[in-house]
Amino acid sequence: MDSSAAASALRPVQIAGTGSYLPEKVLSNADLEKIVETSDDWITTRTGIKERRIAAEDQSTSHLAAEAVKKALAQAGVEAADVELIIVATITPDTLTPATACYVQKQLGCDRAVAFDVSAACSGFLYALELARTSVGAGAFQNAVIVGAEKLSAYINWEDRNTCVLFGDGAGAAVITPATADSGRVLSSQLGTDGNQAELLSIPGGGSACPITVDNASERLATLAMQGREVFKHAVNAMKRASIEAIETAGLQSSDIKLLIPHQANLRIIDAIVERLEIDKEDVFINLNRYGNTSAAAVAIALDEANRDGRMQRGDKILLVAFGAGLTWASAAIEW
Ligand code: UT7
Repeated sequence: MDSSAAASALRPVQIAGTGSYLPEKVLSNADLEKIVETSDDWITTRTGIKERRIAAEDQSTSHLAAEAVKKALAQAGVEAADVELIIVATITPDTLTPATACYVQKQLGCDRAVAFDVSAACSGFLYALELARTSVGAGAFQNAVIVGAEKLSAYINWEDRNTCVLFGDGAGAAVITPATADSGRVLSSQLGTDGNQAELLSIPGGGSACPITVDNASERLATLAMQGREVFKHAVNAMKRASIEAIETAGLQSSDIKLLIPHQANLRIIDAIVERLEIDKEDVFINLNRYGNTSAAAVAIALDEANRDGRMQRGDKILLVAFGAGLTWASAAIEW
């Protein structure tokens, strides 16, 4: 999907505030060495990950999301009561129904807000951005909140070294409002899906296709399963393509990009994209060493950290790009 055709009919939107929340508990590579047959050296050289955060037992995805939203609203100067739309991107919802966004609405007292979830895995935050961009852009809402939030630790098979070393918990949020004369704006946005590759990365059990029963409970089907090498190849190609499309649709060139904020799954994937896009390594935001892959939360957390670290100045052109289960991919070019 290409935003260019519809873009002109919509009023532009801005990211008015960002926020993120990471649970306190740190799980290091050394900790994982005690759980499965792995090593700090393997995890570091194959992924770049050194540690990840793990939510407390009584913290669910909505709690992580609500903390991130509070910070984003405070930065944007928007009251909870004035939020009209909440979209939570997650693959680890509190419950299958109602949506995690409903719990966030309740926790924050956003009583006027329409609230629902988006399930697009690691691309979810950018899918939510596009939904907010078009609906706020069309005038249906004034103040929208988008969130990427995951408690992946609840969906990990802690005996599977292929996956348990990769993921972590966390949340990031952004407030989307109409752009003003002196604000930044979302310049372009691209979404893509390839359901033919759905089996490469999934949580196979726990849905209507394969309910968890007494008979299959020991198979741990409600945990993440991934064909890593295949996903890796698709990730590099799709993220590179989506990046170029977002840059071109925005009327920009790679050299205009001041900061690339990619999905934080694997440093080798990011390096491959950066090389192909000819963007300087110093212009890439990376925090996967500290948080691992937090799926829908990853780009959202990175955006907030880049914002609060002063990595983006007014007028800078920023590129966000993500890839995940579905397969899904998404990108957005933003003028900060
Ligand atoms: O967020 C959604 C998108 N997700 C991604 O983008 C993830 C994409 N995939 C990847 O990042 C990489 O494929 C992985 C990090 C998951 C795996 O790296 P790899 O270089 O593709 O390794 P591999 O799966 O080909 O495995 C290489 C070897 C295997 O051993 P053999 O068969 O060569 O003897 C694995 O059994 O590494 C072994 N291995 C491990 N060894 C120590 C797999 N996991 C581990 C581990 N510790 N944790």
